[in-house]
Amino acid sequence: MAQRIKLTTPQAETEISVGENLSAGLRHLEPLPVLLVDERVMLLHGKLFDTFPAVLIPSGEQHKTLQTVERIYRELVRLEVDRSSLLVGIGGGVATDVAGFAASTYMRGVRFGFIASTLLGQVDASIGGKNGVDLDGYKNMVGVIRQPAFVWCDLSLLTTLARREYVTGIAEVIKYGAIRSREFLGYLEDRIENLLTLDNQVLTEVVTRSVSVKVDIVQQDEFESGTRRLLNFGHTLGHAVEREYGVLHGEAVALGMVLAARLSHALGFLPADGVSLLESLIARSGLPVDRKIDPGQIYEHIRKDKKKSGDIIHFVLLDRPGNAFIREIPLDELKQMLHDLC
Ligand SMILES: NC(=O)c1ccc[n+]([C@@H]2O[C@H](COP(=O)([O-])OP(=O)(O)OC[C@H]3O[C@@H](n4cnc5c(N)ncnc54)[C@H](O)[C@@H]3O)[C@@H](O)[C@H]2O)c1
Ligand SMILES: [Zn+2]
Repeated sequence: MAQRIKLTTPQAETEISVGENLSAGLRHLEPLPVLLVDERVMLLHGKLFDTFPAVLIPSGEQHKTLQTVERIYRELVRLEVDRSSLLVGIGGGVATDVAGFAASTYMRGVRFGFIASTLLGQVDASIGGKNGVDLDGYKNMVGVIRQPAFVWCDLSLLTTLARREYVTGIAEVIKYGAIRSREFLGYLEDRIENLLTLDNQVLTEVVTRSVSVKVDIVQQDEFESGTRRLLNFGHTLGHAVEREYGVLHGEAVALGMVLAARLSHALGFLPADGVSLLESLIARSGLPVDRKIDPGQIYEHIRKDKKKSGDIIHFVLLDRPGNAFIREIPLDELKQMLHDLC
């Protein structure tokens, strides 16, 4: 039995399902959907999808661009997709971000849903309505917030995911525990080995709980004027590490969370055992906790970040494992803190 979670906003209601073999449900949708599918997912799971009209989305962040979206629009015209059609984006975060943006803008918006096929996509990217593309290498510079009609987190698809791609998603899972639930962190401490072997029961529980935390936060603050910023825990430094060292998103976020926890401790908020709890969970997941980083380079990336507001950073700190808060830190102070920390 699939788990179901509802996300309700003033404009929309999204039904999110977590379970095995959900993709088989495509044939029961009305109208029959047109699919926007990650190329690699089509290659690996084509049997589930090849009876539907489909547009392929090339795999990889480098294809998360307006050029890809423009190509999709043309294909949709060719397939005679109109405002009464249903589009389903299938893949990891790249494919669902692109598909959601194309669906939200084609003919001023067509109804759409997602099948999320990576762990990161299931617990994070497919949830919350942010859809968009990168511009000149700057991430998510163009986009909209528009909720899908449904999201299916089909756990069966995860079996073909490369190990490293699976583990990168665990960073976001740990993030949800760190910002919202000490109890969930305890669950992860007890079951991390089961999660790493894709134990079905644990995976269902972990994806459902992660989605629930995100849904709860998005419902409070869909357009990110406050609470939703908590989801950026580990991301201010993480994004800089990602750009500088070219590691996977979750790997960078893992390091970013460790640094943010150490900073929370240095500022007198988080006790030392809170830092070690996070470090140990991250290390046991196979994510990096210690990597030599150059504070000067990291600071430069943060300073140049096109999405920061003025000379202030909304930095997410912890005061205990399971509780986060936002602190406005002036850029020059952050520079000093980074040097002290690294
Ligand atoms: N919209 C949001 O709120 C939000 C949140 C977090 C991240 N994101 C975005 O998500 C993207 C990262 O998502 P991701 O980590 O899923 O990366 P991804 O979509 O690039 O997928 C990673 C790789 O796995 C492959 N893949 C996908 N499903 C597979 C499967 N079942 N089996 C085998 N291979 C599979 C893909 O082809 C790709 O090569 C970034 O662009 C990021 O900006 C968006
Ligand atoms: Zn993230």
